[in-house]
Amino acid sequence: MPEYCKFVNEALPYSYKAMEPYIDIQTMYLHHDKHLQTYIDKLNSLISECPSLQSMTFTEKPVCGFAQLKQILSNPDAIPDYARTQVKNNAGGIFNHWFYFNGLCPQPKEKPQGTLAENIYWQFGSFAGFRKSFTKAALAVFGSGYAWLTVDAQKNLQIIQTANQDTPLAQNLAPILCIDVWEHAYYLKHKNLRANYVPDWFAVANWDWAQWCFDHPEVFVA
Ligand SMILES: [Fe+2]
Repeated sequence: MPEYCKFVNEALPYSYKAMEPYIDIQTMYLHHDKHLQTYIDKLNSLISECPSLQSMTFTEKPVCGFAQLKQILSNPDAIPDYARTQVKNNAGGIFNHWFYFNGLCPQPKEKPQGTLAENIYWQFGSFAGFRKSFTKAALAVFGSGYAWLTVDAQKNLQIIQTANQDTPLAQNLAPILCIDVWEHAYYLKHKNLRANYVPDWFAVANWDWAQWCFDHPEVFVA
């Protein structure tokens, strides 16, 4: 009999030091084990108190995954008023961090290849043109948030910004790659210099993950 599942902070698919020297070991540890853990604990607590949330997380599997997050984030009207903002923020915090960590790779390709690369060239003129636009978006996020490469239902790529723990799903856009520009993502190494963090993030951006997401937008949006 299916029961509602819990979110679990799965281990990173690489070591905490894997992104050195671009993203430091202490930042990776705190970001995953403390910041992400807090969102997971909070959402599990909200689910335990809320039957309508429990009904969104029925699964045969022991732990929740992207599918349950998508269900929660795509149905805000089904969440009681008292919990809606907290659910949005904490479920968004999990989704965005899972996506961010999957989008890092210790031995990445320097740039995208295949159909994603072709679409980047068509829409941004070159990889350098894309990189310039994405960097501008990441630096322009006011306060805490993310810059994303996304794709819409017509397969048009878009660079967007989201504030706090808002997600592209709320705009019916499928994420391809994201950079977390909350200060906790870079402050220990890069201090207040987000402009130094962005190129370091590019050095470990996981273009294989981005291509997979480009090929499977249905995983994220209807
Ligand atoms: Fe973060």
